[in-house]
Amino acid sequence: MERLSTPRIYNCEILENRPVGGLFLLTLALDEVITARAGQFFLIRIDREDIVLRRAFSIFDMEENRLSFLYRVVGKGTAWLSDRKVGYTLNIFGPLGNGFSLTGDRCLLVGGGSGIAPLYYLGKSLKGEVNFLFGAQTGSFFDKDLLSRYAEIGKLEIVTEDSSLGKRGLVTQYIDDNYARIYACGPVEMFKNIKTDIPVEISLETRIACGFGACRGCVVKTTKGEYKRVCKDGPVFDLREIF
Ligand SMILES: Cc1cc2nc3c(=O)[nH]c(=O)nc-3n(C[C@H](O)[C@H](O)[C@H](O)COP(=O)(O)OP(=O)(O)OC[C@H]3O[C@@H](n4cnc5c(N)ncnc54)[C@H](O)[C@@H]3O)c2cc1C
Ligand code: FES
Repeated sequence: MERLSTPRIYNCEILENRPVGGLFLLTLALDEVITARAGQFFLIRIDREDIVLRRAFSIFDMEENRLSFLYRVVGKGTAWLSDRKVGYTLNIFGPLGNGFSLTGDRCLLVGGGSGIAPLYYLGKSLKGEVNFLFGAQTGSFFDKDLLSRYAEIGKLEIVTEDSSLGKRGLVTQYIDDNYARIYACGPVEMFKNIKTDIPVEISLETRIACGFGACRGCVVKTTKGEYKRVCKDGPVFDLREIF
């Protein structure tokens, strides 16, 4: 079994931080090569006086000592992040969380919006046949070069609500049961609309505080009525455990 790196703080120089369609691609230089599983995440410190909590981002890619994230600007933390220039030093903490299980079978990786972020490193890590199914409101959300990176790993199908790219509709309309396992990341509504009998692993995005299981600020209620910490017991859960 792989031995995952113990979470710690890294001060890393920004190597790139640029828009890619509706997202930003951030690449950092770590001071060592680490081992982390797809689906694990890092907390990035936002150096603004009015922001106390670090912001969580899944690993998009890792190559030697380079670590990349793919993020969407949704508020003041991510807006601050998108303004950081190459050469700026970011303070990050991780890798955190459990990560996806890695099977060797035929899999479908479903991403809604910024939910495509953890699926690149997952696709690279899986040993079996990889199929991507990505959805967004409109085609301009997807950067062509970014999509070709995914397409180098597996078959890629796009669905947009306005049919400006790929098929029309919602990704959940195009999920079928011809896979051993489905991995999904995206909005809660997407998870609720996944109807299938095969195993589905989802990566949840809730607000994170401490990030290592101590404060219980990130708990979600399971279908059995238990409370699970997204940062420590997750962020990856069995779909039926939560919805
Ligand atoms: C384990 C994990 C992995 C994540 N990975 C990624 C990733 O790879 N790429 C990416 O773009 N985002 C990811 N997120 C979501 C990201 O952490 C939030 O978008 C970010 O914290 C928002 O910060 P902000 O200061 O810009 O927004 P704020 O100003 O704090 O909030 C702006 C809006 O975003 C909503 N929001 C804020 N935080 C979250 C959150 N954690 N989940 C859902 N909605 C939120 C708020 O309700 C509000 O409507 C991840 C979250 C978790 C928990
Ligand atoms: S954020 Fe503190 S327990 Fe999860």
